[in-house]
Amino acid sequence: MTKLHQFDVVVVGAGGAGLMAALYASRTAKTAVISKLYPTRSHTGTAQGGIGAALGNLEEDHPEWHTYDTVKGSDYLGDQDAIEFMCYEAPQAIIELEHMGLPFDRTPDGRISQRPFGGHTNNVTGKPVRRACHAADRTGHMILQTLYQQCLKNQVTFFDEFQVLDLILVNGRTAGVVAVELATGEFHTFHAKAVIFATGGHGRIFEVTSNAYSYTGDGAAIVLRRGLPLEDMEFFQFHPTGIYKLGILITEGVRGEGGVLINGLGERFMSKYAPTVKDLASRDVISRAIYTEIREGRGVNGQNYVWLDVRPESVNQYAAMDGRTNPDGSPYTVTGEQILTKLPDIIDFCRVYLGVDPLTEMMPVQPTAHYTMGGIPTNKYGEVVIDEKNTVLPGLYAAGECACVSVHGANRLGTNSLLDLVVFGKHAGLKAAEFAKHADFEALPAHPEEEVRAQLEALRNGSGRENAFEIGREMRKVMFEEVGIYRNERGMRFAIEKIHELKERYKHIRVRDTGRIFNTELLNAWELGNLLDVAEVVAESALNRTESRGGHSREDYPDRDDQNWLKHTLIWKRNGHTEISYKPVVITKYPPKERVY
Ligand code: FUM
Repeated sequence: MTKLHQFDVVVVGAGGAGLMAALYASRTAKTAVISKLYPTRSHTGTAQGGIGAALGNLEEDHPEWHTYDTVKGSDYLGDQDAIEFMCYEAPQAIIELEHMGLPFDRTPDGRISQRPFGGHTNNVTGKPVRRACHAADRTGHMILQTLYQQCLKNQVTFFDEFQVLDLILVNGRTAGVVAVELATGEFHTFHAKAVIFATGGHGRIFEVTSNAYSYTGDGAAIVLRRGLPLEDMEFFQFHPTGIYKLGILITEGVRGEGGVLINGLGERFMSKYAPTVKDLASRDVISRAIYTEIREGRGVNGQNYVWLDVRPESVNQYAAMDGRTNPDGSPYTVTGEQILTKLPDIIDFCRVYLGVDPLTEMMPVQPTAHYTMGGIPTNKYGEVVIDEKNTVLPGLYAAGECACVSVHGANRLGTNSLLDLVVFGKHAGLKAAEFAKHADFEALPAHPEEEVRAQLEALRNGSGRENAFEIGREMRKVMFEEVGIYRNERGMRFAIEKIHELKERYKHIRVRDTGRIFNTELLNAWELGNLLDVAEVVAESALNRTESRGGHSREDYPDRDDQNWLKHTLIWKRNGHTEISYKPVVITKYPPKERVY
């Protein structure tokens, strides 16, 4: 038995992008949100340090500076029309969130407080600028709670703990999605005029990651299986400061507040790699610097980590050496109490998970897989585009981390992910609702759930000897080691072979729980299938791009090659094989230059 629902707009995913899309769509269209989680458990809730907008509340700043920094940070692979659109919409988006009730931190005179973040600069001096609007180090949590409350107020219908398994396409148009209800194991068909994917990223393909368990690339894998392309999948961001081995994020806000990175010899090594902005260079630069320190034997105690130091006396000492000042020109100093107020969550994480108190001890950190720059190709209105000519697929939209607009190009600046999901979530919602107003429902096929029902049943009844956890462990390890911060042909070929082997073994897995009620083991096994599909196209796209750019750093092709590679990758899965094509990068005002920090 399959239950049938009908909505004008169905949003898949209840993170920031999904909720923003639902909020805007629901103003004029009957809208539902389907989420495999309870909405406020979505991964947006883990975003810590801030959301970028050139409000200029503490010092001079301009949306144009934000635009340029984002273009430069993207290593010139971001589409400049979309970047400009996002950065100019940013101030209004922040005011809107504030009016919805988001409790941003305040300046003494009551304006929204802002802190420096990597890659965000005063374009005249090249020095860091305070652009990240924050609510302590819980900015994403606050955005999620605020948007969820607004959605409830606006009568959005929620289907919590429903896993979407498939996208229904009829005659080249969108007709809905198929989902399974976790509590019952029942299948549901959602007949819709428009579908918005806001399913998040796929950081769980890597061993050390800041990403939630739920970040399994479901949306990307579903569209790939439906014959649609993914864009720029080779670009995955490693955040420089994850807790050693655990991967849990330690916000860049720590360095924004004056924290510094120290190697095993006690040296502040970022002065060497980025003499102007030092510990506030962009993430790809810092992650590589940490790796270089470790590889050259300057990790702490010969291990794969360095220190992050936010002890007040260190912050004050380095701030004095840098000549850092407050907005009024007085010397910048902090107390332990101020650090605790500004960064309460990361202090707690370190105390709880490491038994380390960041106010008196340094934190052991290593780069952690953090953010998916590539994804489902869209234009700046969230419409999914399906080829080199940006042809729109009617009724299908994507926003947030699962989408590739592309505003982040080869490397995202910190704080631009929250901005991306608010701005493009809104436009995807508006566009989907407008589409639904004029479109009819496509007729559904007879049994749209048949294919995925068969897939789940095959998993449930599998009698092989393979263990899903072990396959996942091997995938995460090979992806982290061979398709991580540094890559080369030999390692990536090895990783691709390994993924193929794991995909074969995946056909023979056995799940022990054969029940229907809250069968999370079964759904985790289904998610593993998504991760394997996504890992394959990440590795294939990375092998194909024979240059280094942003987060894609090849030892065998160490230079950026604008002559041959200033273009987006599109990758399809057809007849069991990957196919690659390209589309141009949109360059408006800023021709590519060497990145100097
Ligand atoms: O460091 C952080 O707080 C992360 C922010 C981001 O990824 O934008």
